[in-house]
Amino acid sequence: MRILTVVGNRPQFVKASVVSRALAELRETTTIGDVDEQIVHTGQHYDYSLSQIFFEQLDLKTPAWNLGIGSGSHAQQTGEILKRLEAVLQSERPDLVLVYGDTNSTLAGALAAIKLHIQVAHVEAGLRSGNMRMAEEVNRVLTDRISALLFCPTATAAFNLAREGITSGVHITGDVMYDCLKVIRRRDRCSRALAGFGLQPLEYAVATIHRAENTDNPIRLRAAIAALEKLVTMGLRVVFPVHPRTSRRLTESDISVRGLQIIEPVGYIEMVALTQHARLIVTDSGGLQKEAFLLDTPCVTLREETEWPETLSDGWNVLAGCDTRRIVESCARQLEKPIRGDGSAKDLFGDGLAAEEIARLLCGHPTADD
Ligand code: UD1
Repeated sequence: MRILTVVGNRPQFVKASVVSRALAELRETTTIGDVDEQIVHTGQHYDYSLSQIFFEQLDLKTPAWNLGIGSGSHAQQTGEILKRLEAVLQSERPDLVLVYGDTNSTLAGALAAIKLHIQVAHVEAGLRSGNMRMAEEVNRVLTDRISALLFCPTATAAFNLAREGITSGVHITGDVMYDCLKVIRRRDRCSRALAGFGLQPLEYAVATIHRAENTDNPIRLRAAIAALEKLVTMGLRVVFPVHPRTSRRLTESDISVRGLQIIEPVGYIEMVALTQHARLIVTDSGGLQKEAFLLDTPCVTLREETEWPETLSDGWNVLAGCDTRRIVESCARQLEKPIRGDGSAKDLFGDGLAAEEIARLLCGHPTADD
């Protein structure tokens, strides 16, 4: 089984790290693991803090190719990946292309493969927000439609696929981000990371905003920043790692930010440490709202819908849109909660062994030669 893994964005490096390690272990320890995996980096994320740092912290092996596509419109990114990846696929002829999540790199990777009749496997299949105006929702729906193997992190995700008539090749494996989180949160470096920010556990909130729907609309962006500033006046420290897109939009829209502790985007280890010890998370990131839930930290999500409805079930995550008053009120309610959750709902995301299961299923999948 020759697998070509296509990644390009920050969260994909996290997800791929655990599956890649599981594939390597399978190859070393069993006879079914006759597998060769190579990694293609599309280059969608290229800053050190959004890309290389993840490879270093998570021991993800160096990509054999970097397509260097960089930033651009959706069509530019998707089109460039299609063109450049096609050449790699034609020379390598892998049995299968493995893609992750819902970014432009995901869809372009899947599309380039299926056009050459190469099978596609999708990790994080079946997630739906129901909002087709989100680029990510379009990427998810289309990628799932052309995948032969669909690895669902939750039962809800498999249900969503069944509703769209997709039942073949579907496996509920659990969530690979949970696997990664379980390993990293135990590491010494993770517990030391907090001190590096000059923070004490539970005295601060962490905020992130990077979704195009929020950053590219000055009214929404201003409203979100105003809410974070209000939290500071309520006596909470707010740490704000700023994505480059957000930083640019704040400047373009002439929005000044007062009182927040603004920091550069951080690596995975630092983000887990910050989340684990925060009193509150305020975010529009899909991954972070789930990590908050898994680490028992209350969360307010700056969107109207979520592809992780499980996190809403016991109120540890609340949807607040991008309206200042709603956000502040939601945060105030979340801050009244007990300091930590009881961890009872974690098994909704698997047992922390999703990557092993995915590696086994990949190796057992018939190739065109079988
Ligand atoms: C992308 C994904 C989003 C995912 C996020 C993870 C799509 C449509 N969106 O959003 O689903 O949650 O990655 O972080 O694929 N930029 C830099 N340096 C970089 C990368 C980006 O400065 O290394 C800036 C550029 O101005 C760029 C902007 O950020 O135009 C947006 O980057 P892009 O990759 O298009 O989307 P993200 O917002 O990162």
